[in-house]
Amino acid sequence: MDRVESRKEASVSVPFPQLPEGMDDERIAEEDERIILLDSHKIGLIEFDFYVFDRDRTTLALMSGDSKTLTDFLNQNGGVRVYRDGVRVYDFGEPGNDWLDLGGRRVNVPTKRIGNNQIIGVVRLKLDQSQDLIEKTNREGFVENQAYVMFCRAIKFAVKQAESERNHDKERIRRAYTKAKKKEPVLSDLQALSESIDELQLPKDDNEHLKKFIDQIDVQYREVLDRLLTAAGAGLNLSIILHEVDKNIGTLYSLIERGDQTAEVREMAKQLSDMVDTLTWLTRQSGKSKVDISELIDNCLFVWRFRFDRHSITTRNGIEMGDPSFFVRANRRLILTALMNLVDNAIYWLGTKARDRRLYIGTSFELTGKPGIVVADNGPGFSDPFEYLTMPFFTRKPDGMGLGLHLAEEIMKTQSGRLAFPEQGDISLPSEFNGAILLLEFEKEA
Ligand SMILES: Nc1ncnc2c1ncn2[C@@H]1O[C@H](COP(=O)(O)OP(=O)(O)OP(=O)(O)O)[C@@H](O)[C@H]1O
Ligand SMILES: [Mg+2]
Repeated sequence: MDRVESRKEASVSVPFPQLPEGMDDERIAEEDERIILLDSHKIGLIEFDFYVFDRDRTTLALMSGDSKTLTDFLNQNGGVRVYRDGVRVYDFGEPGNDWLDLGGRRVNVPTKRIGNNQIIGVVRLKLDQSQDLIEKTNREGFVENQAYVMFCRAIKFAVKQAESERNHDKERIRRAYTKAKKKEPVLSDLQALSESIDELQLPKDDNEHLKKFIDQIDVQYREVLDRLLTAAGAGLNLSIILHEVDKNIGTLYSLIERGDQTAEVREMAKQLSDMVDTLTWLTRQSGKSKVDISELIDNCLFVWRFRFDRHSITTRNGIEMGDPSFFVRANRRLILTALMNLVDNAIYWLGTKARDRRLYIGTSFELTGKPGIVVADNGPGFSDPFEYLTMPFFTRKPDGMGLGLHLAEEIMKTQSGRLAFPEQGDISLPSEFNGAILLLEFEKEA
């Protein structure tokens, strides 16, 4: 199994993250949660069928039968069982056994994640192919060796893919069945707004256009609320978290400043400190200056050269290959943050290839005649429509927050620019960059 196919008779197939060629498997794979190596172990063919249930009260109310019976059943039987040649392997999928730690992951965005009491799944293995998965003698699952770690990661990765598909369906169900009357303050205002738009009897296109915006506000409001409530429930407040992180990084930075550490460590710590500072800047009106884009690209490639090395990524600086250099009036830190988010994504998705990982950072005026920074890779490319990618909390990464592209887009808006997704061929690039292409486009040169 080297691909994940969603059961929604799957339009997507997302490759697993792979190890770079020639790297020491055990060490890297162990420390890097994202790498999934099934071929290096005797695990054999894995079949994974699962059903996911929506336990929202509004959805359950649509059921013809008794919803309590269903929720009781799921509480008792929810989980993922494992069978080998048809024989059950205990204690996977027993009540209280959350071997995939689905419960643990739910803390961040509860309504978006699939929990153990929402899934009924069966993993099937072949006895003669899965020798590296060794049953413990006390019927408490498999011995926790490398093969088992990889096996768990693969199953989690599959659940993650279903999750990101399912969130769109959930949203459609909600929209189709939400009753006209809502009590929540903002939501009921939105509903009233939507109704008065109907009364205006605008041309169909205008009506749909306006409704789309209202829907977007509605969705984003719910998501932000969801997150804030989770944080508040844990006695936390997001601004406090930000503040604490900021303080700790500040301390780290000044410690390093005083000590005699290498220039690289200092540079990296400064970068971190700047990044967090940037987050607090986002809420203020920030100072703009004349930014040298070729210098910015150099800086990005320099600061992360260790990460590129570690992930065996070959980088290409487009400016060195003849891309035009230009200046813009903007907030340098914010632009760097946006750029770093695109690069961060490229690093992750290039990790799904075992070899020949390439990243391009350059510039182009080709898309609309306006100046832009291009980030391209030779990874798997996008599996979703572009409008999904920038939605807050949309992610296909098992541990992603789904905020990177959203943040990049918001930043570009504050800088009178935009985040664009050029198609192959829209921008001239060396032909090997056939994966994702992104463009941070500015209004004009400074
Ligand atoms: N270079 C890329 N190649 C392929 N897919 C990508 C790439 N960049 C982004 N994506 C897709 O867009 C999704 C959203 O990206 P985004 O940066 O917003 O969130 P994330 O990377 O998943 O999580 P976070 O950035 O918060 O850690 C990704 O999960 C992935 O599916
Ligand atoms: Mg990201």
